[in-house]
Amino acid sequence: MSLVIETNNLTKTYKSKGGRPIDVVKDLDLRVERGEIYGFLGPNGAGKTTTIKILLGIIHATHGEAKVLDKYAGDIEAHKKLAYLPERPYYYEHMTGLEIMHFYASLFRIRDDKLCKDLLERVNLQNDMNRPIGEYSKGMQQRVGLAQSLLNDPELLFLDEPTGGLDPLAHKEVRDLILQFRDEGRTVFISSHELSEVERICNRVAIINKGRVIKQGNLVELLTGARVEMVFRGLSPDKAKEFASGDAVISSSGDTVTVDMADTGETNGIVDAVRSAGASVVSIVPRRMRLEDLFVESVREVNSPATAEVTA
Ligand SMILES: Nc1ncnc2c1ncn2[C@@H]1O[C@H](COP(=O)(O)OP(=O)(O)OP(=O)(O)O)[C@@H](O)[C@H]1O
Ligand SMILES: [Mg+2]
Repeated sequence: MSLVIETNNLTKTYKSKGGRPIDVVKDLDLRVERGEIYGFLGPNGAGKTTTIKILLGIIHATHGEAKVLDKYAGDIEAHKKLAYLPERPYYYEHMTGLEIMHFYASLFRIRDDKLCKDLLERVNLQNDMNRPIGEYSKGMQQRVGLAQSLLNDPELLFLDEPTGGLDPLAHKEVRDLILQFRDEGRTVFISSHELSEVERICNRVAIINKGRVIKQGNLVELLTGARVEMVFRGLSPDKAKEFASGDAVISSSGDTVTVDMADTGETNGIVDAVRSAGASVVSIVPRRMRLEDLFVESVREVNSPATAEVTA
């Protein structure tokens, strides 16, 4: 396993207006592996952008450690191999797409007109490269940002809200580009609120809340197995209620009854009981949770008064 981002106990403390210290990032342990698309999620103000800025060396952690591409955050050698698309990229509106590319290329001491044009073509801006950015739509600006982020052929890309405010077509274009980046062997670290997007492209995620990780792991593992849907034939809904767990949703159609319940590991026992009652099993399917459900549940759970007291 090769890690491209590793943080240990990463903490950033700011002073509130009243002078009280507030940990906006608290004891963050992140592990991002080479070649993955990693989703960094959390409610507004959770500390995502702050963490990304620490990883880039734009701001410093109060304590803890952050390593990026095997170097401490902010290392100049590592910087040459990474790219950052900020949450709100700022461009000089009078500059054309091509001029912007040349400008950013010059920051890497790259003088390569063909590369700039090729990258603009890659994001489908070949016909607009000589128009001022001020005339670009949000989606086009985002695509210039992605083209620009490829100038130094980065191993690792930080994309802060790459699809924020984009229409579904522009979403798809950005998503396809991100998948291409992964296929080229790059690692992509994405902060996003677009959970259905994240669900489609990320293989691992961390959900943070008030600067702390509340869920982290492989997306498929986090989302499967949480619930199970069982369909039986020849069982009355009332009888099904006796076997199922308390939160089960039971519905019937014709001679089948469907039990949708939390997977409490009792499936085998329920099947035995149902069969002993003379009914038969039609199907048992682990149901995938939506990332949105996992997100809402996880955040609600830690913010419930009882839990909040423990973590305060
Ligand atoms: N320079 C600063 N001084 C004081 N507090 C700050 C500063 N920068 C950020 N914060 C606070 O840190 C917290 C985390 O902010 P951050 O921008 O990292 O959140 P985020 O997860 O990126 O949110 P969003 O989803 O809205 O982009 C917020 O409460 C914010 O007000
Ligand atoms: Mg942010």
